[in-house]
Amino acid sequence: MIKMQDLQKHFTVRVKAGRLRRKKRTVAAVDGVNLTIERGEMVGYIGPNGAGKSTTLKMLTGVLTPSAGEVSVCGLAPVPQRTKLALRIGVVFGQRSQLWWDLPLHESFELLRHIYRVPAAEHAARLRRCRSLLDLDEFLDTPVRQLSLGQRMRGELTAALLHGPEVLFLDEPTIGLDVVSKQAVRAFLAELGATGDVTLVLTTHDLADIERLCERLVVIDHGRVVHDGSIEALHARYGSRRSLVADLEQPLPADFALPGTVLTAVTANGHRVTFSLESTTAAAAVAGLVAAVPVRDLSLLEPDIEDVVARLYTSP
Ligand SMILES: Nc1ncnc2c1ncn2[C@@H]1O[C@H](COP(=O)(O)OP(=O)(O)OP(=O)(O)O)[C@@H](O)[C@H]1O
Ligand SMILES: [Mg+2]
Repeated sequence: MIKMQDLQKHFTVRVKAGRLRRKKRTVAAVDGVNLTIERGEMVGYIGPNGAGKSTTLKMLTGVLTPSAGEVSVCGLAPVPQRTKLALRIGVVFGQRSQLWWDLPLHESFELLRHIYRVPAAEHAARLRRCRSLLDLDEFLDTPVRQLSLGQRMRGELTAALLHGPEVLFLDEPTIGLDVVSKQAVRAFLAELGATGDVTLVLTTHDLADIERLCERLVVIDHGRVVHDGSIEALHARYGSRRSLVADLEQPLPADFALPGTVLTAVTANGHRVTFSLESTTAAAAVAGLVAAVPVRDLSLLEPDIEDVVARLYTSP
């Protein structure tokens, strides 16, 4: 569905060199990306600020011309075949709007129906589905400029989907949304993904989006792919461990060691301890701890994706 071969985008920027002089410098925003994405895949495309995510999406959607390399989406070349491609993809750039600022939301949707020449019945069916899943009814008659960010994003998603695209490109679709709106958007996208017909590429800084939605995670940094695989593969690569957190009746004895674990934190005046499970099962660790000290409460934490990704971003 999507193919990138040694895809590159270089920007020339002018930087200050002395009081009046300006020097030209080249920024390799995307620096040789190779990726193939199959129909129905849900791909999380993440990376630190300035990594090249938005630039990649702009080349995939025909907004920017690549400096070098090959790119195809739905078998089309995005820039030369931009009009044809527009019928087959849906795009949301969280920072920009595709809606008409002064029109009520439903009129924007109606305009899009004409622009994309969607048969009325098809359009009505899709809109009905979005209205119920994204809870649009409350603000369908409101001009877009009066919508809150979360309301507008739900409108943007609807607008991107009304022509029944095969591929959806979402650049930070949950940016700035409250917890409830985020969950609504995620549930909506999950349902869309479950049909298996829509291919989705999503960038985000909220890793919960990825955990909820994407089986495949592509991480880029300085314009290059530094990880491509499942979240589990990322945990395995970085040796992520589960943790056992225990609330104790009294602090641990000074020379206490729990076999197969490493004590990573002691808080609450020594009453709360955290062990990283290195080479033992949770059951064995719990048994060992309970046998040694009176325990009030226990919980087991899965490895934190934020931690792993932070390590990935900062590793050279
Ligand atoms: N039009 C442009 N002119 C010059 N440089 C640009 C332009 N657009 C992007 N860049 C540079 O290219 C690099 C990648 O930018 P891009 O917007 O793709 O990053 P990003 O991964 O989307 O980051 P963020 O997470 O902050 O959205 C940055 O260094 C940015 O400054
Ligand atoms: Mg961006």
